[in-house]
Amino acid sequence: MSRKQSQKSKLSAQNLALPKSLWKFYFKYAVPGSWGALIAWAVFFFIVSMDGVLFPNFQRWFVALFENPVPNGMTFMGHAMSTVMLIVALLLLIDISALARDVFRARWAPLVSNRIWTQLSDYVHDQSISFWTGRMAGKVHTQILYVTKGFEAIVDFWRIVCLFAVVALNMGLIFSINTYVAIMFAIVFVFRAIYSWVMVKPMNKAAKDYSSANSDVSGKSVDSISNFSVVKLFAGTARERAYLEPSRQRAIKSHKYKFYVQRWFWGFPMILWDVCYGITLLLCAWLYTQGKITVAEIVFTNSVFFTVMGTIGQIVNQIPNITDTLGAASRAYEELSVPMDVVDMPNAAQLHVTCGDIEFRNVSFKYKRKWVLRNFNLHIKCGERVGLVGASGAGKTTLVNLLMRFYDPNAGEILIDGQNIKNVTQNSLRNSIAFIPQEPTMFNRTLRENIEYGKPGATMSEIRRASKRAAAHDFIMDTDKKYDSMVGDRGIKLSGGQRQRVAIARAFLKDAPILVLDEATSALDSQTEVAIQKSFDELASGRTTLAIAHRLSTLRNMNKIVVMKNGRIIEYGHHDELLRRRGEYARLWKMQSGGFLQEDNQ
Ligand SMILES: Nc1ncnc2c1ncn2[C@@H]1O[C@H](COP(=O)(O)OP(=O)(O)OP(=O)(O)O)[C@@H](O)[C@H]1O
Ligand SMILES: [Mg+2]
Repeated sequence: MSRKQSQKSKLSAQNLALPKSLWKFYFKYAVPGSWGALIAWAVFFFIVSMDGVLFPNFQRWFVALFENPVPNGMTFMGHAMSTVMLIVALLLLIDISALARDVFRARWAPLVSNRIWTQLSDYVHDQSISFWTGRMAGKVHTQILYVTKGFEAIVDFWRIVCLFAVVALNMGLIFSINTYVAIMFAIVFVFRAIYSWVMVKPMNKAAKDYSSANSDVSGKSVDSISNFSVVKLFAGTARERAYLEPSRQRAIKSHKYKFYVQRWFWGFPMILWDVCYGITLLLCAWLYTQGKITVAEIVFTNSVFFTVMGTIGQIVNQIPNITDTLGAASRAYEELSVPMDVVDMPNAAQLHVTCGDIEFRNVSFKYKRKWVLRNFNLHIKCGERVGLVGASGAGKTTLVNLLMRFYDPNAGEILIDGQNIKNVTQNSLRNSIAFIPQEPTMFNRTLRENIEYGKPGATMSEIRRASKRAAAHDFIMDTDKKYDSMVGDRGIKLSGGQRQRVAIARAFLKDAPILVLDEATSALDSQTEVAIQKSFDELASGRTTLAIAHRLSTLRNMNKIVVMKNGRIIEYGHHDELLRRRGEYARLWKMQSGGFLQEDNQ
């Protein structure tokens, strides 16, 4: 196993389960390695927030210069100079802290996002196939983005803590000046806090609905756009619009609702503030006539009123942001972190293939409710070549899916060289099988990269050799950039047969002890198939091979042919033997005209 692969398997092992709570996930996977930068950022952030306490005081100190007598032995300008210097020094401290705050944020934010992204994409890559059959790739992508953005809520959260400190300190100062004004402020603040508390629940709900509606739209849109060829083929533009319409309407409705709830959340208390400001001004005027407040204190009170109200406004504004981001992130995380159906056993061993003896023992399997395989038994001996035949839906691909451990059987076991595949690591199992699927898909990368996927780090001459054996070299050399040509989204720039040949080349390069072909040559013309057949014969020699095919002629050279119907084996033997038996295989063989099997209803 290469170093890269062993690193990947280490990750997979720790990825088996993610914490239930989003915050535990962040603390376990996102923050380690960035604690220092995060704490330094928080400290400087706090210092910068203190400008909300300092600015009203700057005004108070400056106005007080004109009200209070100059200390003995000092000129007015000397006295003023020391106050101004103090103010400037504090201003410089805040500005330098702002710089440090941003530098430290730049040190943790990209790393943390990257860790979250890597961890979640590894996790979904390791997820069972059943995870993917129920989901759309576009939606999963958006959900990973939401969780990544969710961590940023920590910035808003810390901002709120600092803003609370600003309010508390200012309130303390006001209290030291005049109790009436302080009580006035306290009433407004307490009302605001209670109001926020009550509104948080509907706000959260609105944010969750909005995020779920949005990721639904994006999942369906990506699905619709990526099937553009089907849409074109069936002139389906209007149908697609109609299909997406209900989801879009739901998104619009939830967006509007979220907007109204948020407006209501901070719009209503503004009216109360306006009235309170008037009362505060009158209070100051009255206290002045009583000689209980100085001009410097009135200036300070005025300034604090705006600072405190502005700060409360900011807090209130931030809360919807936090609930929005966290609501979306926690919902997305809930869906992404679902436990895996297929997992490695603790301390699972590596699979050691000695000769490739495969045994399906009393295997029963159902996807959801309908049984696809019942008490299925099949023994493929070392180095044997077995062909699998049967009408569409008989369960052939399912059998291979179980062998690859894309799913676990509901009952029974599958053994390779006597080792139950459930007890070995999935990576070692899949590394031992070269599998050419029924519908090979490609990355939107170069032909070379797509083939190299079979053997990471393969040399160019190995890639070329595998391509020649898969009859892919000639068509590759005909493309613009040869092995460096891009294949397009999911291989769209290639013909079906070309895609199949790239997948075959990939399997040749993998050079695994067990070979599984699921309709591997179904899209090839007869001439190319004959050319590849020779390579297959060469590749299959000494390897256990399981080949599924509808075109029975491709299975003539198999040691055994297994005929399946409704998830059971109904016939078993060599081609000639089965023909002599005049059973299902002979019937299928007869029905093949031009080499193809006519599908019949089972
Ligand atoms: N992911 C899935 N979820 C639910 N049912 C499934 C799933 N995949 C396959 N099936 C069902 O299981 C049955 C067997 O499917 P399978 O793909 O194994 O057939 P097959 O023999 O390979 O057919 P074909 O020759 O058309 O490839 C079918 O009825 C199919 O509808
Ligand atoms: Mg199939």
